[in-house]
Amino acid sequence: MDWGMQNRLAKIIHPEDGRCLMLAVDHGYFLGPMERLEVPRRAINPLLPYTDSLMLTRGILRTSVDPKCDIPIVLRVSGATSIIGEDLSKETITTSIEEAIRLNASCLALSIFVGSKYEHQTLSNLAKLVDEGEKYEIPVLAVTAVGKEMGRDARYLGLACRVAAELGAHIVKTYYCDNFEQVVEGCPVPLIIAGGKKLPEPEALKLAHDAITHGAAGVDMGRNIWQSDWPITMIKAVQAIVHKNADAKEAYGIFLEEKEKDKPSQKEGQKVVRTTVNH
Ligand code: 5RP
Repeated sequence: MDWGMQNRLAKIIHPEDGRCLMLAVDHGYFLGPMERLEVPRRAINPLLPYTDSLMLTRGILRTSVDPKCDIPIVLRVSGATSIIGEDLSKETITTSIEEAIRLNASCLALSIFVGSKYEHQTLSNLAKLVDEGEKYEIPVLAVTAVGKEMGRDARYLGLACRVAAELGAHIVKTYYCDNFEQVVEGCPVPLIIAGGKKLPEPEALKLAHDAITHGAAGVDMGRNIWQSDWPITMIKAVQAIVHKNADAKEAYGIFLEEKEKDKPSQKEGQKVVRTTVNH
């Protein structure tokens, strides 16, 4: 692996501990203004000091993140579908490699829909993106998106993750499931987990801890952080699990301790109309 690729990967997965805390704020690319991400800047800015990297689209990067900040960017480059459109799996590559370079992306992210109507299209997208990324030594994160009809079990997720790795993805994102270690074993590149729908904080922290205990390199978490009433506190607790080996109970202890301190700084982010769409 060449210097540029290694350097970029080290920004996403920290070489000191092999772990990764990525903040996902890309949801609007097919869901529109989700609850508490209606004004992206308000949700993103207070969390930047605590995340290792930020996953988002170019539109939100350009409009809502200060170019002078040094946060590594995981640029979502797949999409062109919406929650009310024909088929969510019909994604294409939406951002060119030149644009990703101009935006100084440290990693490219693209969804694959294994088992869906447009499986072939999304897997071809991944293979092409890996070729493009490798020309310029930019790694690719494959997001194993799960259609409504697919089970989130080790057999299905294991298949999707392995296919992503075989096509050259450098990191794979999936969901935590029972027998997660089987998914990890079958995937020769680092696996990170999505948080999924908002859970009560102790459950979300347990999910993160279980995933790491069973072999995940970290998390790419969104809703369980910025939909919390205490997003800064929540990301600090997740950080303790990812980088400080805290267990779920210790992390929840940190959450409870920090909660009161963080409250005032977070109110501003919530003065907006709520429009909830879940996926
Ligand atoms: C959407 C994504 C999201 O980034 C991913 O689902 C992570 O966010 P959350 O923790 O809210 O599930 O890739 O396709």
